[in-house]
Amino acid sequence: ASAEKAGYEHFMMKEMCEEPKVIRDTVSPRIKDDNIVLDNIKITADDLKNIGKIYIVACGTAYHAGVVGKYIIEKLARIPVEVDVASEFRYRDPLICDRDMVIIISQSGETIDTLFALRESKKKGARVLSIVNVVGSSIARESDDVLYTWAGPEIAVASTKAYNTQLSALYLVALDFAYKLGRIEKDYYSNVIEGLKAIPGEIEKVLANRDTIQKFASQHYNAKSIFFIGRGLDYALSMEGSLKLKEISYIHSEAYAGGELKHGTIALIEEGTLVICPMTQDNLVEKMISNIKEVKARGAVVLAIAKESNKQVCKAADVVVTIPDVDSLIAPIVAVTPLQLFAYYMALQKGCDVDKPRNLAKSVTVE
Ligand code: G6P
Repeated sequence: ASAEKAGYEHFMMKEMCEEPKVIRDTVSPRIKDDNIVLDNIKITADDLKNIGKIYIVACGTAYHAGVVGKYIIEKLARIPVEVDVASEFRYRDPLICDRDMVIIISQSGETIDTLFALRESKKKGARVLSIVNVVGSSIARESDDVLYTWAGPEIAVASTKAYNTQLSALYLVALDFAYKLGRIEKDYYSNVIEGLKAIPGEIEKVLANRDTIQKFASQHYNAKSIFFIGRGLDYALSMEGSLKLKEISYIHSEAYAGGELKHGTIALIEEGTLVICPMTQDNLVEKMISNIKEVKARGAVVLAIAKESNKQVCKAADVVVTIPDVDSLIAPIVAVTPLQLFAYYMALQKGCDVDKPRNLAKSVTVE
């Protein structure tokens, strides 16, 4: 097995280091002459105009990718999107009809709740597009359309590179739908495509800077409880950061929307509590700085994840992990990597089995 790790100590680290490559593999084949071409998926502008609603349904990390998907599809394509955990969706008699589209996200393509949500959607007449990593898996076979993520095999139980490729696929879908519907201009469309093409290089830089995160983890791995706070897309990202940490380090953590903190959670912030703040959304930086001040005033230790150009944050946070200056819209694909690295180093410091966390399965095929 050590040979398969290609010199890495763990599959998880190997897989994080593969992120630049697998994002490129997922994005490049879908860009032809500066236009997005989603494989053989034939969805016309008329089809899109007739969609009532899009439901995104998934579990775990794939669900968190779906939360980002909701933000960007609504923002770009202006189609209403609901995102649901598969085990809830399938039992709540969702109001789907044949005018709706369901986007199913799954790394394995075999998660039982997700598969049953797919069948429920088809029964109600919805068109199902799945974003799946395993070719020929059950979910892929039963969907009307499939957009594969080309993340390759993921061995570590905690999903990393698959998430980055799920986001990449969702951005392609959101941009394609938005452009076909005439909701975004050609220039903007082209700019975001260029941005997506540049992401692998940006993640290389994040990976090369991992020492800062390792050092921070070596000082704080005894934490009993950690909060992740973010706004907008960073809130979606916070959920994934928190899940990753729980899965492999067994440290309790919660993800909170920055603005919601004062409605309860801030009562739990005390001297020394760790608060992780992704803040990649330019229009929300000021608001996040206020949140940092609020928690610091109560004794929190703050690690911020911010763009290089964000000079304000250095004065507010205790430690800043920088990411390159990418467009805020696509920042989550880059900014999740520091959160994955944080979970990894915290777990490693605690002596946990990073690749095989207790009680968890890579793919949950039973109820
Ligand atoms: C399990 C895994 C998670 C994963 C979830 C959904 O719980 O441990 O890492 O996110 O299933 O899996 P899927 O294969 O459907 O993406």
